[in-house]
Amino acid sequence: MTLQPHSLIELPADLDRDRLPRHVAVIMDGNGRWAKQRNLPRVMGHQRGVETLKNLLRCCKDWGIEALTAYAFSTENWGRPLPEVDFLMTLFERVLRQELAEMVAEGVQIHFVGDLAGLPKSLQAEIERAMAATANNQKIKFVVATNYGGRREIIHACRSIAAQVKAGLIDPADIDEVLFERHLYTGGLPDPDLLIRTSGEMRVSNFLLWQVAYSEIYVTKTLWPDFDRAAFHEALRDYQQRQRRFGRV
Ligand code: FPP
Repeated sequence: MTLQPHSLIELPADLDRDRLPRHVAVIMDGNGRWAKQRNLPRVMGHQRGVETLKNLLRCCKDWGIEALTAYAFSTENWGRPLPEVDFLMTLFERVLRQELAEMVAEGVQIHFVGDLAGLPKSLQAEIERAMAATANNQKIKFVVATNYGGRREIIHACRSIAAQVKAGLIDPADIDEVLFERHLYTGGLPDPDLLIRTSGEMRVSNFLLWQVAYSEIYVTKTLWPDFDRAAFHEALRDYQQRQRRFGRV
């Protein structure tokens, strides 16, 4: 990884430390287009996208952001050409294996959310190993949404609550937003304050449907592989100009 100049490691002076988002979520879009613009195979965009994600994770950690969630593979992404799906699964596994020691050393606590049982067995094993090895780390939570769908997550939560009702552990009248949230894959994490989507598309694409209820949304035309510290700085500057009202006046 390339070293950042010192001035970019510290929080830029025009950002207010007390008004940083606690949790940033990213829809990493535009890898294919980035590759196409360079006459490269699409998968090279994903490969480059990993570097962008690593740099963003380090930046969030340096600037004191508590959690970063990245949409790495949706339940709909299985519909992509098989070689691209295979490439992505192998890439996730390789990155996990190669980066685990550094994540441990840097205090990253990694989580995977999604329908993990649907992933290749060898990837599931790497995921378990990485989550166990980083479980006590405290610097930053890094959440990777893989085989993730927001609707599927809500159905999963409903089933889990229904099973508890059936077993007589809870009463339907006990079901409220706090209880529901605990049954989501992201249970216990703060909701994202800021949702960033790269490459200009104005869609949520089945990502964190429950959790983004009051998130500020920032869409940039920058393609994911080009989303560097300067681009993130700009997103945070924009975020800090917003008035968050949560439905109040
Ligand atoms: C969307 O761009 C990107 C993806 C579906 C994959 C994102 C995955 C990574 C960047 C790898 C992350 C790695 C780890 C280990 C978490 P696209 O292919 O839809 O781009 P396009 O819209 O230009 O075609």
